[in-house]
Amino acid sequence: MIITIAGGGSTFTPGIVKSIALRREELEVTEIRLFDIDKERQDKVAIVVNWILKEELKTDIKLTVTTDEKEAYTDASFIFAQIRTGKYAMREQDEKIPLKYGCVGQETCGPGGLAYGLRTIFPMMKVIDDAEKYAKKDHWILNYSNPAAIVSEACRKLRPNARIINICDMPIAIVDIIAQSLGIKDYTEIEYDYFGLNHFGWFTSMTHQGRDILPEVKAYMKKHQILLPESYIENIKKNLNADNRHAVSSWVHVWETMYEMTEYFPDYLPNTYLNYYLLTKEAVEAANPNHTRANEVMETREKNLFDGIEQFLKTGEINGEAFYAGAHGNWISDLAIALKNDTRQRFLVIVENRGALPNMPYDAMVEVPAYIGKKGPEVIAQDNISLFQQGLMMQQLNSEKLIVEGAIEGSYQKILQAFTLNKTVPSARVAKQILDDMIEANKGYWPELK
Ligand code: G6P
Ligand code: MN
Repeated sequence: MIITIAGGGSTFTPGIVKSIALRREELEVTEIRLFDIDKERQDKVAIVVNWILKEELKTDIKLTVTTDEKEAYTDASFIFAQIRTGKYAMREQDEKIPLKYGCVGQETCGPGGLAYGLRTIFPMMKVIDDAEKYAKKDHWILNYSNPAAIVSEACRKLRPNARIINICDMPIAIVDIIAQSLGIKDYTEIEYDYFGLNHFGWFTSMTHQGRDILPEVKAYMKKHQILLPESYIENIKKNLNADNRHAVSSWVHVWETMYEMTEYFPDYLPNTYLNYYLLTKEAVEAANPNHTRANEVMETREKNLFDGIEQFLKTGEINGEAFYAGAHGNWISDLAIALKNDTRQRFLVIVENRGALPNMPYDAMVEVPAYIGKKGPEVIAQDNISLFQQGLMMQQLNSEKLIVEGAIEGSYQKILQAFTLNKTVPSARVAKQILDDMIEANKGYWPELK
């Protein structure tokens, strides 16, 4: 059984490989292949990956590292995709250009997310086509590549028969943070209902061993004015870093907004990303337009990984824990187990609605729970959603759909409409200013717009 990681040079690769290797028996994996278009970067990451497989976990899983599509995908059963077109340098542009105009600067939300979508749609179609050409007929592509909402809509429109399941680890990261906050040892014991679009959804219930824990989560947030475990809150006060990448630096503001959003709208628990749409002005005020999350990531996660590799080459010593991504790698590997072994376990997936949320369009790409078996996701139907959530979702959905249509048609007009329609953008003039700057910054990445 071969698993190919598309985007092998990612900072997340070592964590994902470790999660796979820890599940080698259930997955019956014999070979892991890393594929990237950046050879130099991937070769470095492969040094740690090799160490994890051979030294740390002492597996006999074969490791292949390649920049050749045929070698990467031939006979693969799973493709774990996590590509980042333009790398962190372009993420920095996605975040900083909108902030110049007083708008939300975020990699997947607002104008930044729309821009990133325009860069990612066509490279992602190439991954699908290469997998179709070379991989096993019954292969699955499990896709983390962002912005997942736009990528999944592009898949639906351009490659409706692709064997791809789009996923996101944010909901499960929230569940993990809640478990730690409430002192629940194993976050996988928490059960929940959820609906939304990617990075745009709500938990409608949450239970632990049958007990409704949403009231406890709310009381916890009221007490601390933030949703983070007490130990993290202490570390933040002392300026110490938490080892959870979702709980450091600029992410701290995001966890504060969880409290405020739930105070105003107590019916459900929002996804963290909703803060950019519901507390837009506050998100801009909390941001540093000259130093955004991309800078933080480049200075920490990316630097630590490549410094660690240098150090290993010099001394032969490595701190394996530093590269472990936990929930992120586990989520994608467990999904592969469910598909391969037909476990019918429940996961959140981004799929075509087809009536699952009755008052959302049939063809909307929604994020909802599904049972996962050999044939793919069996989506769980829900009731009509409330007008507030439905209205927000329709606006976001149409903004993202316009990006996909605009990319396919090369239409400046549709892209301008997408930017203007996005709730984070206050006026058409601002939308146009941001768009025109982004066209410059994305030369060579975006399709030509006329
Ligand atoms: C969450 C989201 C991902 C996103 C990531 C950013 O995990 O689900 O889609 O890429 O956060 O984290 P970062 O540490 O790069 O800011
Ligand atoms: Mn995500």
